[in-house]
Amino acid sequence: MKLNQLILIVLCVFQIKFLKATNLTINPGQVYLFAYASNDGKSGLNFAWSIDEITWHSIGDNHTFLASDFGSWGSQKRMYSPYLFQDKEGLWHCIWSLNEEVNMFAHAASSNLYEWKRQSYPQIDDTNNFLEPEVFFDSTKNNYVISWISKSNGSEKEAFKMTTTNFKSYSKAEKMLLSNRKNERKDVVINGKKYQGIIHKVTWDLVDKLIKNEQWVKFHNSERDENLNDDPVRFSNLKPIEANITLLPEHTKSISDLLIGVFFEDINYAADGGLYAELIQNRDFEYKLSDTKNRDTTWTSTKAWYINPEAMTIVINNDTPIHKNNPNYAVIDVKKAGYGLINKGFDGIPIKKDEAYNISLFAKSYNKEIKHLNIQLKDENGTIIGQTLLKNIGNTWGKYKGVIKATQTVNNAIIEIAPNTTGKLALDMISLFPQKTYKNRPNGLRKDLAETIANLKPKFVRFPGGCVAHGDGIDNIYKWKNTIGNLEERLPQPNIWRYHQTVGLGYFEYFQFCEDINAEPLPVIAAGVPCQNSSTGGHGQQCGVSMDDMDSYIQDILDLIEWANGGVNTKWGNIRAKLGHPKPFNLKYIGIGNEDLITDVFEERFTMIFNAIKEKYPEITVIGTVGPFYMGTDYEEGWDVATKLKVPMVDEHYYQPPGWFINNQDFYDSYDRSKSKVYLGEYAAHVPNRRMNIQTALAEALYLASVERNGDVVSMTSFAPLLAKHGHTQWNPDLIYFNNTEVFPTVDYYVQQLYGNNYGETYMSSDIKLSNQDAKVKQRIASSVVKDSKTGDLILKLVNVLPVEVNSNINLNNIVANGLDATLTVLQGQPNDEHQKPVTSTIKVSNAFNYKMPAYSFSIIRFKSN
Ligand code: AHR
Repeated sequence: MKLNQLILIVLCVFQIKFLKATNLTINPGQVYLFAYASNDGKSGLNFAWSIDEITWHSIGDNHTFLASDFGSWGSQKRMYSPYLFQDKEGLWHCIWSLNEEVNMFAHAASSNLYEWKRQSYPQIDDTNNFLEPEVFFDSTKNNYVISWISKSNGSEKEAFKMTTTNFKSYSKAEKMLLSNRKNERKDVVINGKKYQGIIHKVTWDLVDKLIKNEQWVKFHNSERDENLNDDPVRFSNLKPIEANITLLPEHTKSISDLLIGVFFEDINYAADGGLYAELIQNRDFEYKLSDTKNRDTTWTSTKAWYINPEAMTIVINNDTPIHKNNPNYAVIDVKKAGYGLINKGFDGIPIKKDEAYNISLFAKSYNKEIKHLNIQLKDENGTIIGQTLLKNIGNTWGKYKGVIKATQTVNNAIIEIAPNTTGKLALDMISLFPQKTYKNRPNGLRKDLAETIANLKPKFVRFPGGCVAHGDGIDNIYKWKNTIGNLEERLPQPNIWRYHQTVGLGYFEYFQFCEDINAEPLPVIAAGVPCQNSSTGGHGQQCGVSMDDMDSYIQDILDLIEWANGGVNTKWGNIRAKLGHPKPFNLKYIGIGNEDLITDVFEERFTMIFNAIKEKYPEITVIGTVGPFYMGTDYEEGWDVATKLKVPMVDEHYYQPPGWFINNQDFYDSYDRSKSKVYLGEYAAHVPNRRMNIQTALAEALYLASVERNGDVVSMTSFAPLLAKHGHTQWNPDLIYFNNTEVFPTVDYYVQQLYGNNYGETYMSSDIKLSNQDAKVKQRIASSVVKDSKTGDLILKLVNVLPVEVNSNINLNNIVANGLDATLTVLQGQPNDEHQKPVTSTIKVSNAFNYKMPAYSFSIIRFKSN
C-alpha cells in the first residue's frame, strides 16, 4: 500500500468517527465556524464549528491554524482577538492584536484557512495600542474599514478606524465613536470553556477540509514520533530480512561533489573558549552585563579577572582607549609589590609541558618606577610553571610581547601579570596564545578541534551562523568589516546566544581555515533584517536596515566579494593582501539571510542585495533562505521569492525527530529540478532527551542516502550546530563536544565523517528487493551507490535501522573485478548507545557477494578501482 493511500484511509476513518460523534450522517451543507484564540494567545488561531450555534465542536482541541510570528521568543509571538473575514474576492483575512504594548497589529491571508500567506505587522501612528479589531467592507467607498480599541494605563477606552483596499497600505488612523463599533465578537462555550470570537456561516466543505488538515497534522506528527525505542513492540515478531540488492550501472546521474560541509556558528562557546585558540577570557575587558541580558550578574568588564584586594585595586576606564572599538581597559593600583592581575581563562587555562605560549598586551604605566611586568603561569597551588618578563613599560600605550615556555602540563592554570613594583598601570588586550595552533597560524585555531573538523573532510564551511549572522536586533547584525585587522581594532559585540564575541576569530581566520582544510568558504550575511526572534531594539525582525542605509549595507557585501576575490590592485583585495593573503580566496558562494521570517520587509531587502550581487558578480552563487522549517508559510513564501528571482540555491533548515527523517526519505524526490538548488544548511535528528546516539545517527545516515539519491537537486548539506563546550551549551545536541583539553565527537559525527570521506560525483541506481513487504520495514533499509571520479572507487552505503539483521545478496552487475579487495566500515549499536565508533576491515568481494547488514547499522563498502 502506498503511503498516500494509507493517509487517505486514516483520514476517512477519522472522518467517519467524527461524523458519528457529532450525529452527522449526511453533509449538512452550511454550518457555523467560530474563529478564536486561546491559551493567552499562545495557541494562535483556533476553530470550532456548529450546526445550531449552540453545540460547538472544537477542531483539534484548540489546534493552531495560524500562529503569530511577531516579536521575540517567550513573551511575544501571541495572537489576541483574531478577527476573521472574507474579502469580496473570497480570500480569507485575519487581523489580530499583538499585545497591549505596541501600536502595531498583524495581518495574514489564506484561501483555505490552513495555509496562510506571509504576515505583516503595520504600525499605526496616533494610537497607543490595537485591541479587538473589527473589519467591514464599505461598498460605497469600495474599501475595508478597520476599527479597533486603544487604551493606555488609566485612560478611557477610545475607538479608532482606518481604511485599506489591499491590506498593505492603510489610511491615517481617525478617532471614531465607541458606540459606532459593531461589537461582533460572540461568547461561545466549547468543551465547557467560554471563548470570545467571530462566527461565520460557511460551507461544510470548508470545515471538512479544516478537520482533514488537522487530522493530517496529527497523522504527520505521529509519524514524526516514530522512535526506535518502540521497536521491540513495533517489530515484535520481525524475523531477519533477506535482501537482493542489484546495481543498475546503466542508470547513473551526476550529483553534487559538495554534499557534506560544516556549519560553524559561535554558539555553545564554539569560538571564544573553543575553536579560537586564545586562552585568556575577556582579554579586552569588554564583557557587559547586557551581553547576557543582565541574567549573569558576574558577566561584567572584570569577568575572569581576579586580584588580591588587600594588595591592589582595579578599575575599568575608557577615557583614553587603545582604539575606539575597544573602549575599556583596566587600571590596577598595586599597593604590595609582587601582586598582579590574574586571569583564570575559560574554566582554567590548559597548559602543556614544553610548549611555547605567546603573551602580548597593551600597557601604560602611570608610575615611572614600573619598569617591567612579570608574567607567570601558575598551577592551582601557586607553583610557577612558566614565566617571562615584559620590559621597558612606557608611560603611553605600547604593545609588549613575550614567549613563555611551560615546564609542566596543567589543565587549569592561571596567568598573573605583576608589575615589578607598586604603582598604577593600565592594561588592555591581554592575550595568551599557544604557538601550536592548527597549521601553526598566528591568531589561529585550537589544533585538536580544528583537526576533528578537518577529519570530516568537509567540502565547505558555512560561517558565522546561524542566528549569529543575522543577530539580535539591527545593531547586532554580524558585520564582516568589524572582524578583520588588528585585534584591538576589531569591534567585539554581544553574541545572540547571550555571551560575548571578541571576533578574534573573524573573517580572515574563517577564510584561512577554509583554505587550510581545502573547503569552500560559505559566508552567510544577514538579508538586511535581524533575527525574527530578536529581543533587542524592537520587536523581532521589525523594520530591517532602513532604506537610507541599504546602499551602504549592500556595498559592504560587494566589498566582501572584492576582499575575498579581488586582485591586490583593488581596494579591498589590497586590504586582504596587507593582512597577509595576497592570493585571492576564490569565494564562490554567499548566503543571504538565515531562516528569516519571510515578510515584505525581508523580500524588499533580499531582492536589493540579490540583484546587486548578480549584477556585479554574476559568477557568485547566491544562496537564499526559506525559513526555519520544512513546510509552512516561510518555507512556501521563501521558495516563491527564490523562484521569482531565480535565486540559484536556497538554504533549508529542519531539526526534527528521527521519525521525521525515517518517514520523509522521499522529501526531495519530487522537487522541481528546474528551480533553485537546495543547501540543507541546518538539520539534525533530535530525540526527546536531546542526546546524540545510534538512533539519531542512523536516522541521519538513512536520510543522507536519500539526499545522495537527490544529489542533483541538493547541492550541499551541513549538520548543525557543529561545536559545543561542556558546561556552556545553549543548544543541544551538537556534533562535537569538547572541554579545554579533550574532544568528544558524537556518533553522529562519524556518520558525517563516513559520508564526507566517501563521496562521489556519480550516483548509480540500485534495486532492492526485500523478503518483507511491510512499508514500515522497507523504509528502514536504504542503499546508495556513488562513484568517486578521483580514485575511480565505487562506494556502496547500506543503512539498516531495524532491530534484525538484513542478509543481503549484492549483485554488482559485473562492474568490478572478481576477488577484489574492498574496505568495509561499519557503525552499529543499540538505539541509545552514545559512544559507538565505526570499525574498518578489508574484505574480498566478487561481483555477486553476500553481506549481512547488522541490526541497527550503517555500513560502507568501498570497492577499490584497481
Ligand atoms: O543551529 C542553531 C540555530 O538554529 C541557528 O543559529 C539558527 O539558524 C537555527 O535556529
